[in-house]
Amino acid sequence: MFEELEQVKEKCLTCKKCSLHKTRTNVVFSGGIPNNKIMLIGEAPGYYEDKKGEPFVGKAGQLLDKIFDCVNLSRQKDVYICNTIKCRPPENRDPLPDEKSACREYLDKQIEILKPKIILICGRVALNSMLPEEGGITKVRGKWFDGPYESKMMPIFHPSYLLRNDSREKGSPKWLMWQDIKEVKKAYDTLLNK
Ligand code: URA
Repeated sequence: MFEELEQVKEKCLTCKKCSLHKTRTNVVFSGGIPNNKIMLIGEAPGYYEDKKGEPFVGKAGQLLDKIFDCVNLSRQKDVYICNTIKCRPPENRDPLPDEKSACREYLDKQIEILKPKIILICGRVALNSMLPEEGGITKVRGKWFDGPYESKMMPIFHPSYLLRNDSREKGSPKWLMWQDIKEVKKAYDTLLNK
């Protein structure tokens, strides 16, 4: 299944289209399970992701897994995970425009091949790539947007942001994430029952 995705991955693993190939340890193409249900698009690999070749394996990734677990979703059975760029920027700086455009073909192919029904746009950098004309993440998180191939896209906070904001009070980032993930689960359940 998804043989074409394997071909894209193979090409990506040896990619030298931008200078990040000089400093990477591993290309981080994707994680989770390839399916047409939920795709999460993050920012870029960090230190641990670069070492392991897998997305969201550091602290932010552990929190992401907990968030999914709260609504009985998991990367083992439901979610395909990727990033806007596949190689770690030095010191975890924001990806540069030329790095994003060099890497865009891989993300576009991932979307085109899988045609996910739900796309979660995780954090500010992914939002800039997927919905560049929209305002900040705080304004648009939790809203549904029409995406490619008849998908529905929802921007959500990045787990790193939640790690920096500990409050769980009503209206706090963690509380808002809880509302958003419940809404995502509702949409997911509707899709499965179709
Ligand atoms: N943050 C991201 O956006 N992606 C990762 O893969 C890890 C941390």
